[in-house]
Amino acid sequence: MLRMTKTFKIAVYPGDGIGPEVTDQALRVLARVQENDRSFKLELMHLPWGVEFFKQHAKVVPDDFLEVLRPMDAILLGAVGWPALVPDHVTLAPLVKIRQTFDQYACVRPSKLYPGVKSVLAGKGPAEIDFVVIRENSEGEYVDNGGRLKQGTPDEVAIQTALHSRKGVERILRYGLELARARRSKLTMATKSNAQRHAYVLWDEVLEQLRPQYPDVAADRQHCDALIMNLVRCPERFDVIVASNLFGDLLTDLGGVIGGGLGLAPSTNTNPERRFPSMFEPVHGSAPDIAGQGLANPLAAILSAAMMLDHLQLPDAAAQIRHAVERTLADGCQTPDLGGKLTTRQMGEAVTARLGL
Ligand code: IPM
Ligand code: MN
Repeated sequence: MLRMTKTFKIAVYPGDGIGPEVTDQALRVLARVQENDRSFKLELMHLPWGVEFFKQHAKVVPDDFLEVLRPMDAILLGAVGWPALVPDHVTLAPLVKIRQTFDQYACVRPSKLYPGVKSVLAGKGPAEIDFVVIRENSEGEYVDNGGRLKQGTPDEVAIQTALHSRKGVERILRYGLELARARRSKLTMATKSNAQRHAYVLWDEVLEQLRPQYPDVAADRQHCDALIMNLVRCPERFDVIVASNLFGDLLTDLGGVIGGGLGLAPSTNTNPERRFPSMFEPVHGSAPDIAGQGLANPLAAILSAAMMLDHLQLPDAAAQIRHAVERTLADGCQTPDLGGKLTTRQMGEAVTARLGL
């Protein structure tokens, strides 16, 4: 019988700091999954971009970086930035540009506490911590819209104006409502319409307009300040949270730490219509202070690779990775961030050894 092997072109952008170390382990896991499951093949294109590239070319990515990425099926990113060498707003600009140009408007960031991992929240275990933040990833507070006047003088003024389009708000809310349907049918929208009376009143109105189409989803909205407090107080009340770009950024560092730490928090930057490649990356940054020492936890990168396989419609392969991570943690394998002694590489090997078990 002829078996079809699906081939996918993957751009690998390990980046800076701990990015390359954690990406190596994600690639180790992906290589073994392909040996176990011969139905697909990943063709990797390695991109040596970031601060090292900057040293030679005075830019962190080549001018045509978007054209290099465009024909890919997905992008696997490690982490970017090394502020002591290059200012963050320079290193990180291409990342935001990728998200916006490729209309990766749905940033999906699950917070799930795995058995064997302790949350910073006292008295909360895996039964209480299992929610997903859907961050609007294409507009909001991250549009490059503003300027500086009288720069460098005492009268200097900076203006940065957020942009919230009805279309943008509606599509991210629909994405969240659909996801809620597939989960526990609960959605919380982050708003701040008590103070931001233009942008977040629009968000509130769009939610009210969509509500009748999703009678099966219990949807509410909370002002983001209260939402943050409630996420700490009673995470078990949350299932799907939808938030603007900046609110989502803030909520997902909190979500990461509640879910066992940023070393475990994966993320997508999804273009749901698949008109452009989507990008998969850990929530954590490049952590230059611990780079190159084997101290970083590769699980966030490994779980991001699993989310990539889900997006490529390889759910069995994705589940294989998630189960292996679950077993690894349940068996007590821990990197220093979790209180253990395993190196980045040993943790990657521990997951790899449990694939397909
Ligand atoms: C994230 C990061 C980025 C963001 C930075 C690196 C630009 O914090 O992915 O959460 O703010 O979106
Ligand atoms: Mn962030």
